[in-house]
Amino acid sequence: MAALYDFDTAIDRRGTWCIQWDGVADRFGVDGLLPFTISDMDFATAPEVLAALRARLDHGVFGYTTWQQDDFRSAVAHWYATRYGTEIDTGQLVYGPSVLSQLSQLLQMWTAEGDGVVVHTPTYDGFRKAITGLGRELRGVPVGDEEALVRELARPDAKVLVLCSPHNPTGRVWTGAELTRMAELAERYGVAVVSDEIHADFVHEGDVHVPWTQVAGEGRWALISSGSKAFNFPALTGSYGLIGDPADRAEFLRRMETAEGLASPAVLSLTAHIAAYREGGPWLDAVRAYVAGNLGYVAERLATGLPELGWEPPQAGYLAWIDLRAAGVDDAELQRVLVERERVAIMGGAVYGAPGFVRLNVGCPRAKVERGVEALIRAVGAAKSSPSGV
Ligand SMILES: Cc1ncc(COP(=O)(O)O)c(C=O)c1O
Repeated sequence: MAALYDFDTAIDRRGTWCIQWDGVADRFGVDGLLPFTISDMDFATAPEVLAALRARLDHGVFGYTTWQQDDFRSAVAHWYATRYGTEIDTGQLVYGPSVLSQLSQLLQMWTAEGDGVVVHTPTYDGFRKAITGLGRELRGVPVGDEEALVRELARPDAKVLVLCSPHNPTGRVWTGAELTRMAELAERYGVAVVSDEIHADFVHEGDVHVPWTQVAGEGRWALISSGSKAFNFPALTGSYGLIGDPADRAEFLRRMETAEGLASPAVLSLTAHIAAYREGGPWLDAVRAYVAGNLGYVAERLATGLPELGWEPPQAGYLAWIDLRAAGVDDAELQRVLVERERVAIMGGAVYGAPGFVRLNVGCPRAKVERGVEALIRAVGAAKSSPSGV
């Protein structure tokens, strides 16, 4: 039987103002590199989403719109019921233009300047920018270091734990037991939890995502997410959240609608979310399986090309987080070879506070992944043997 979806044929994204391809010089200094960078995919979104968007475009009127209606609320509830087997309280729903805008608003609500905000390290750079940009103090806790987590949460001025669930960039899926423990600790020390679950829909076979709603206790919490990551429509700008406490929820909405002037959401994002959450499951399963194949390919190729790494695919997502420390290369030299000789753009781990690592985005056709991995293996070899290599 022919495949239902074609993820192998490349779609030319150049000249569409996209950051992945057209904005490569902003981070890497030169144009024309083959990019494996920002967290979006080179695939078109689900056909069901495209059909819904086309129908909405054909209507032609794009007046002010509300997300506070049952088509949206029930689509989100349907998604959580069918994908996570959990019933959400749609009365807890809020909306914002992006996950990071919601994070920023929650940090402003729940912390004052100088307060501590706890995050796991390595850390998604968007978190770092939001926390430090607001003048809050970022307190990093290595993933898996329970002692450090307790120590940081117990500090009197620690006010929020920003949890990345699943975790970007490592692709770690937190177990129910780990999340329950974090909820207990946060409650014990009076720390609010913001659980960013934008990568949840991309958990691979064998692992299960547990939404924060299932472990939340009496403490303050918010779950923030969007269909934009899994269905690849971040530029439509839209996200939603669930906030446990009614007063917090009211305050969040008041700020969004008054201080931020964001009463009307982007209608195309609402349309896309509803179609994705009602009809997009089969496409998502297919793209995830394709990406799992890409990650499996990376693992196989690294096992022969750089066996000293012992690299294994992540539990979630389309980002291959690769620890190159065993290969003993200098980051700057590796980037120089990648850019100048191999003409590829691959994120250096220092962006996430983890020198010695790289993050390779494999949300793209297999042929492109092959080029990226070959370039990386060659560049590591070249960087090792060059005089400035360590
Ligand atoms: C963990 C995480 N949160 C948030 C975002 C960005 O979401 P948004 O564009 O809705 O702000 C990303 C994008 O890479 C992400 O990885």
